[in-house]
Amino acid sequence: MIIDNHMKSILENREALAKIVNDVAEVAGYLWQKGWAERNGGNITVNITEQVDDAIRALPAISPVYQIGTTLPHLKGCYFYCKGTNMRMRDLARWPMDNGSVIRILDDCASYVIIADKPVKPTSELPSHLAVHNYLLAKGSPYRASVHTHPIELVALTHNKMFMEKDVATKMLWSMIPETKAFCPRGLGMVPYMLPSSVELADATIKAIDDDYDVVMWEKHGVFAVDTDVMAAFDQIDVLNKSALIYIAAKNMGFTPDGMTDEQMQEMSVAFNLPK
Ligand code: 13P
Ligand code: ZN
Repeated sequence: MIIDNHMKSILENREALAKIVNDVAEVAGYLWQKGWAERNGGNITVNITEQVDDAIRALPAISPVYQIGTTLPHLKGCYFYCKGTNMRMRDLARWPMDNGSVIRILDDCASYVIIADKPVKPTSELPSHLAVHNYLLAKGSPYRASVHTHPIELVALTHNKMFMEKDVATKMLWSMIPETKAFCPRGLGMVPYMLPSSVELADATIKAIDDDYDVVMWEKHGVFAVDTDVMAAFDQIDVLNKSALIYIAAKNMGFTPDGMTDEQMQEMSVAFNLPK
């Protein structure tokens, strides 16, 4: 008898779900190319519940039950694609279902199981990712993706207390080039240093996002961004880091950049109907 060892992927014959996972893989490649994803650095999760059909709901667990570490009532029955812990973005870019997995949140809203394709344990930053998804669902937000990465120049900024003060970095970054305010219109929130993967960091991240930011810095660590999809979350980080690079380029030329004036930035808000 020939045993067919070919494992069917959850992505087979599911175009919408496959597109979401392909987009995660594409962004993972960008993170690596930009030098933001050393070793296993960074993580991505996407709420894929809207792509889940009855056949997926019937899939058995392929892992033990794992605790999230916190209870998240809005995630009951939700499904997420998650980067695997200790997995590399550069590997995920080529093999997203070997370096990430799909999880189901159980009815206690405090635990989860892996359902596909392989028992790849989700990212250590799962508490922050899931707490933020819970917050977004509670608010009725259309945001489904969250990206954590280590962008060199933005992380460097957080090593200066001045830039950790509310909206000092936002104002400087917005003033480097008009696009940054247009495409990261809520600016950059700041979260003081906390232990990676901790529930405290998750709580502080939600608090910062609730303060009306889509992108927040984890001091001396990285950035955490949310948006409708993974591409849009990546774009917000990318425009912010571009501004940081312009700031540094001017500094390297021997001067502190003037930045756009307050009037020029106000004019942008009116012309493009921006929230801040
Ligand atoms: P994981 O490999 O567990 O996703 O951790 C990477 C990281 O950046 C932690 O902050
Ligand atoms: Zn990190």
